[in-house]
Amino acid sequence: MEKLRFEDWYDEFNRHAGDLYPGRYTREFVDELIAAGRKVRDLVPRKRSLVVAHNYQFPELQESAAQVGDSLGLSRYVAAQDSPRVDFCGVWFMGETAKTIVGDRAKVYMPDRPGCSLVESIDYAKIVHWKRRNPDGIVISYVNTDAGTKAVSDYICTSRNAAKVLDHAARRNPGKRILFLPDKFLGSVSIAQSSVADPTLIDLYDGCCHVHAKIGETALEEAFDRRPDAELLIHPECGCAAHCMSKVMQGNSPYQRAFFLSTEGMIRHAQASPAKEFIVGTELGMVYRLRREIPGKTFHPVSAEATCEYMKMNTLGKLLASLENDEIEVTVDPEIAGKAQLAIDRMLTIQ
Ligand code: 13P
Ligand code: SF4
Repeated sequence: MEKLRFEDWYDEFNRHAGDLYPGRYTREFVDELIAAGRKVRDLVPRKRSLVVAHNYQFPELQESAAQVGDSLGLSRYVAAQDSPRVDFCGVWFMGETAKTIVGDRAKVYMPDRPGCSLVESIDYAKIVHWKRRNPDGIVISYVNTDAGTKAVSDYICTSRNAAKVLDHAARRNPGKRILFLPDKFLGSVSIAQSSVADPTLIDLYDGCCHVHAKIGETALEEAFDRRPDAELLIHPECGCAAHCMSKVMQGNSPYQRAFFLSTEGMIRHAQASPAKEFIVGTELGMVYRLRREIPGKTFHPVSAEATCEYMKMNTLGKLLASLENDEIEVTVDPEIAGKAQLAIDRMLTIQ
């Protein structure tokens, strides 16, 4: 996607994100952003940095990044580049994953230290307990986990390849129990999408993301009522995921117009679909990316409250400070990184 010119930030941010972040893009604030954006643009080549931003980042960070994408896309992008520095605008586990991938080849910095409620829903003692009861069991962890959890996992998956990773792990380990963690909603959708022969062998960990868990069935029904011609793009972490999936599988109206997708999958689906209007069932930042990338179509957030305060801890001012002061650096204990590497490599290769 071609980046906006600084002169267009004010109009375009208000056009594509005025309703997402009411009152944010005043003339004065956009002028401050432009001043910071110009400094970032000048510093990036001097620092030999690669700036990447997750789809949930504020527009000004998306516009300042060399690449915008989902967890899997950004991991693959970072893996394929040879820049000695990465500035990762996302949440901490994403920075840790990038650092594990690049190893000593590059330093990884982040504008802040944002956590993630899904990561925080993990109780490590429960994993240890499950492993003790299932000594030959297989652990599949969603990428939204800390490096320590990744290190005790056999596979890492993202929302884009979770069903395929489940299929792969079940095929390679017939008869073994599988623990899928931490997101129970993503887990149940992925089981339904997979062709795992015996789903009773899969244990779902009881975790969830506070932003997506709040997106319930009522919000979907109301959105469909308001937009009778729209398709629904829904992230599998949503609280309504299991109900919605069963309706999708039964072909119930209006759920034949609902599609479970990772954030990057939403872009591809909306580009290819004949539909002109979409309801977006995930964090608000994704709506900006969709509107920017696919200008001929209309995108509505399913909920004005679907904002991740962790993702939004990153700001352009903090990115600039990080570039100027070489902080905040992400480090991962080499022993933990070594143990997590194989599971992350599987995530990068299973399509
Ligand atoms: P993606 O894997 O789609 O980037 O999602 C990451 C995330 O944090 C979702 O809330
Ligand atoms: Fe974590 Fe949820 Fe924020 Fe994604 S939206 S980073 S899962 S808290």
